[in-house]
Amino acid sequence: MTALVNLDGRIVPPGDACISVFDRGFLYGDSVYEVVRTYGLHPFELAPHLRRLAGSAGRIGLELPWDEARLETELTRTLEASRGGDVPDAQAAPWNEGERQARIVVTRGAGEVGLDPALAVGPAVVIAVLPLRGPPRRDYQAGVAVWPIGDRRAGDPAAKTGEHLFQVMAVKEARARGAHEALLLDDAGEVVEGASSNVFAVRAGALVTPPVSAGLLEGVTRRVVLDIARQAGLPIREEPLPLRSLQDADEAFLTSTVREVLPVVRVGERTVGRGRPGPTTRQLHASLRTRADAVARGEVS
Ligand code: PDD
Repeated sequence: MTALVNLDGRIVPPGDACISVFDRGFLYGDSVYEVVRTYGLHPFELAPHLRRLAGSAGRIGLELPWDEARLETELTRTLEASRGGDVPDAQAAPWNEGERQARIVVTRGAGEVGLDPALAVGPAVVIAVLPLRGPPRRDYQAGVAVWPIGDRRAGDPAAKTGEHLFQVMAVKEARARGAHEALLLDDAGEVVEGASSNVFAVRAGALVTPPVSAGLLEGVTRRVVLDIARQAGLPIREEPLPLRSLQDADEAFLTSTVREVLPVVRVGERTVGRGRPGPTTRQLHASLRTRADAVARGEVS
């Protein structure tokens, strides 16, 4: 499959998915969104994603035109319509083959040009279903690098909005440094999160991750991983994580919907641990994979 778009309830090929150039999402990033992934074409952790979408909308005073049930129905319908036509990718991690990522975007809509949200005529809903392009298999085997950058994002980190220019520039810099992801640091030099991921360290047998109060987006995958760690009896510390502590950690990894659990082996110029994915990272990823496989078999959602 290439891509399929559900635009306000109509499923169309990407070329026919047209939105006004006066849409406020395009003009101002005045929109909210979620990225959901599938296993066996079943959405993973859909309920928390839809709850977060509603939360983001509430935080910017955008009234969602569809309730959660309608969003789920439209997403399911679009995923079904996208079945088949997958092109094999030899580099892909096996759990991503034939899967989809769905980008659910709700913009405040078009209207007379001007910052005042009252000018918007009505929201638009877009569900873009795309082949899932996660990190390639070799990134899970070898680990990736992250590059530290001062966090200069404006606005509310808990609202997942379309306003992303800072993150775009941060990832541009990280890629120029040969890194996979930008690592956002606060003014005290403490890790907040990645540009589109949450960050974990393993130190002396404990899992350490910055608390939500550090100003991060509470990732759905972050919550799943914390839950898995708790069940495994792993000590968990949600506490400030200075850059140096991450660099000195035994292991480090990123979490996000499309990455699952992705090992980090370099932070800035420094190698983490032995420069290879560590055992705790592998164990947590294996446990997440077990959950995902149950979703793929349709046993749980
Ligand atoms: N981003 N932090 C930020 C700033 C994010 O944008 C994301 C996700 C995460 C991880 O959240 P989750 O585990 O729920 O995917 C953390 C999405 C996937 C994106 O922008 O593509």
